[in-house]
Amino acid sequence: MSLSKPHGGTLVNLWEPNYSTKGIEKEIELDAMALSDLELIGNGAYSPINGFLGREDYESVVSNIRLANGTVWSIPITLPVSEKAAEALSEGEEAKLVFNGETYGVISITDVFRPDKTAEAIGVYQTADREHPGVAKLFQRGGVYVGGPVKWLKKVVRNQFETYYLEPAETRKVFEDKGWKSVVGFQTRNPVHRAHEYIQKSALEIVDGLFLNPLVGETKSDDIPADVRMKSYKVLLENYYPEDRVFLAVFPAAMRYAGPREAIFHAMVRKNYGCTHFIVGRDHAGVGNYYGTYDAQLIFRQFSDDELGITLLFFEHSFYCAKCENMASTKTCPHGKEHHVILSGTKVRELLRNGEIPPSTFSRKEVVEVLIEGLNEKTVKA
Ligand code: ADX
Repeated sequence: MSLSKPHGGTLVNLWEPNYSTKGIEKEIELDAMALSDLELIGNGAYSPINGFLGREDYESVVSNIRLANGTVWSIPITLPVSEKAAEALSEGEEAKLVFNGETYGVISITDVFRPDKTAEAIGVYQTADREHPGVAKLFQRGGVYVGGPVKWLKKVVRNQFETYYLEPAETRKVFEDKGWKSVVGFQTRNPVHRAHEYIQKSALEIVDGLFLNPLVGETKSDDIPADVRMKSYKVLLENYYPEDRVFLAVFPAAMRYAGPREAIFHAMVRKNYGCTHFIVGRDHAGVGNYYGTYDAQLIFRQFSDDELGITLLFFEHSFYCAKCENMASTKTCPHGKEHHVILSGTKVRELLRNGEIPPSTFSRKEVVEVLIEGLNEKTVKA
């Protein structure tokens, strides 16, 4: 086995720090989500995409989960602008991509189009309910999309956990240097609790390395902040994981909460980072009750192994079972729910905010300590 080939065959690299923007008058203001998308397009995490989607690719992704050329792609990567901003833009010209007065890239505009956002919401999120955080975000953003290939001119300067931002070419090098021939990717927007640890380590029994790749872009306001989570991952790895089998780096994308569609996206991106395997557990990237527990696993059935190019490892709902005296899942435990330690994320956050300690069968004590401390600091600051 060797590391996965990038999606589409080639790792995209659009880094052109010396590209001259002289004479480019038009500017497009990026929001935080578009800025992170620009970075991930530029560094190849979104290979084979080389820009913000034009109309043809966009419509194909929304309705067929594929780019217009047939390559599997599940989340439309779009550059929304307001109606007013769109009036100044024309196809065939370049525009600077600007955030807080700094130019981070240039787009060669091929398309300026008005999307059908309701169709996008239903295609991608399976609902047009504005209570859904991904759908709410979709409708908040500008009503006109600008498509076209980009050049990436400037990297975002980070002031926290900056050494954990690795580009796909760098993670591939890390995995190669470690001699890993097989690597399982793990997406999370949460602290790593015992159930996460259980499925990660179950996977690690059959591959060489684990790539713990928490998403640290925009998340909804009641998710645990990324800086607190990073501390919790470090303390967990130090205490419970073999150092030479795990690599931690962050995924700077925004969370879409698109459940099944986002599971595909998460898997393709981890393939670009070099992973050969990817974990999809219960209600991956889900929120509320919008998706069935295993929908994010079932969606992969419509694709061939070849077109996915990464091996999916599906896990059933995992928990601690007092009768088994062990971590287990619905697949391996014969006992009733009354023996299982199952807490919702909301419940855990509530416990932590009140300084109460979730049971050690739910979360490692070192992790809990970091979370309580981190969340208290935030509350004091707020
Ligand atoms: S996600 O939005 O990033 O998917 P989360 O951080 O909760 O949310 O989940 C990370 C991964 O672990 C996902 O693949 C999810 O399906 C899986 N997962 C989370 N909790 C469990 C659990 N109790 N049992 C099995 N899989 C789980």
